[in-house]
Amino acid sequence: MDFLEKARQYEDANRIPLDERPVFHMTPTVGWMNDPNGFSVYQGKVHLFYQYHPYSTAWGPMHWGHQVTEDMIHWQECKTALAPDKEYDKDGCFSGSALATEEGHVLIYTGVAKDEKGGKEMQNQCIAVGDGIDYKKAADNPVITGDMLPEGFSRADFRDPKVWKDGNTYNLVAGSRDENENGQIVLFSSADLYNWNYEAVLANSDGCIGSMWECPDFFEMDGQHVLICSPQDMKAREYEFHNGNNALYFLGNYDKDKKIFSKGKAISLDYGLDFYAPQTTCLPDGRRILIAWMHSWDSSFIPAGQKWQGMMTLPRELSIKNGRLIQVPVRELEQYHKNRVFYEGAVLEGEKCFDGISGRMIDFTVQIHSGEFQEFMIDVAKDEEYYTRILFHKDKSIIEIDRTYSGVIRDVACIRRARIRDFGDTIKLRFIMDRNSIELFVNDGEMVLSTVIYTPLTAQEILFTCDGSAVMDIEKYDIE
Ligand code: FRU
Repeated sequence: MDFLEKARQYEDANRIPLDERPVFHMTPTVGWMNDPNGFSVYQGKVHLFYQYHPYSTAWGPMHWGHQVTEDMIHWQECKTALAPDKEYDKDGCFSGSALATEEGHVLIYTGVAKDEKGGKEMQNQCIAVGDGIDYKKAADNPVITGDMLPEGFSRADFRDPKVWKDGNTYNLVAGSRDENENGQIVLFSSADLYNWNYEAVLANSDGCIGSMWECPDFFEMDGQHVLICSPQDMKAREYEFHNGNNALYFLGNYDKDKKIFSKGKAISLDYGLDFYAPQTTCLPDGRRILIAWMHSWDSSFIPAGQKWQGMMTLPRELSIKNGRLIQVPVRELEQYHKNRVFYEGAVLEGEKCFDGISGRMIDFTVQIHSGEFQEFMIDVAKDEEYYTRILFHKDKSIIEIDRTYSGVIRDVACIRRARIRDFGDTIKLRFIMDRNSIELFVNDGEMVLSTVIYTPLTAQEILFTCDGSAVMDIEKYDIE
């Protein structure tokens, strides 16, 4: 049996029941998931592929899993799209992107192959074309090889192609590493998707933004260009970046003819504990949507017996305001709002729970208007044993998430802090909670903190605490 058929039969036989996973966040059919891949619109549906190892809850030889959605909220599982079954991708079909063309649905991915002695790894870019269900790898793969790169650039770290069409030209950015071990993004162009030319280094780390830059994305929005990438091995920088793999963006101006991207400063895309390798697509209505792997490479723990590992964030709508990317949950979520509970001008002194404000599949917003306090806390997914705490320190302008008591039994990072920019008199915190996650959108999406929690679902309470007094509005919907 071939590798693709084997994976398809395996997932059919071992599909995880829906009640064992998050309700509106995409999870793998079975086993392990990492990066979103091939986020694209094809024949009226939104397709999302993902790095996939169906056979265990750990990373292994990479396949591409596949799901589609018609409402951005509920995902329908499709059969495995790619398996590592060719000489040039025998060690993995790594991350990449997709595009609808006249030829069909084109996937561009990184084929990974070690040389015969199992030693040196080569990463090259490959194509597969399909009809939205089955995909056939191109006869002339790989279509971009490492030896097309300038001398000195790594052949072993050259991956994650993101493709787009501009006029009659296809463009592609990929992650790479230069001769000084610095991360960078390289640019290629093609007239037909099969014959490519190396163009330029679009951006690089200048030696201070990690090593290899993974999973680039590059697009125009609101008159500017946005470059997204996920650098490995970063050192923490104040409240902006944490140690290890970060996901960040640059806003800038792109001179298309000269292939020069003049970029601003690096800004974090998410300030929570679990967010990596984001990818975007553009919907037919013009919205630019971002989705990311809601996970961290360094905290791969799951409760015993759980048959899946890794999930995606909720898709987010992007825009630009005051020099920053703004991210808000896709508006389609509102169709699933049920049971509105609303408190206006509620006064909080000390600790308090509010009738009807609880749950684990909820969309709830707290708007704190004013008050005499320093610290304001919200404990969610709480019972006598567990909670995850969001702490807002007004004078320091710090927001913190702490999942120490969420049920974690491994020595992984549990606290992350971020600095909120000017918030005037009001701060708005919107929580999107699914069974195993919290995505906290601060001040209408100016910053987001995404974090996974494996707290038992019986922990449903929400407790508000403040060390003085505060006045706030609370609005909550169940998501069903
Ligand atoms: C990012 C990444 C990519 C690579 C893939 C492998 O998380 O390391 O660079 O293509 O995962 O699964």
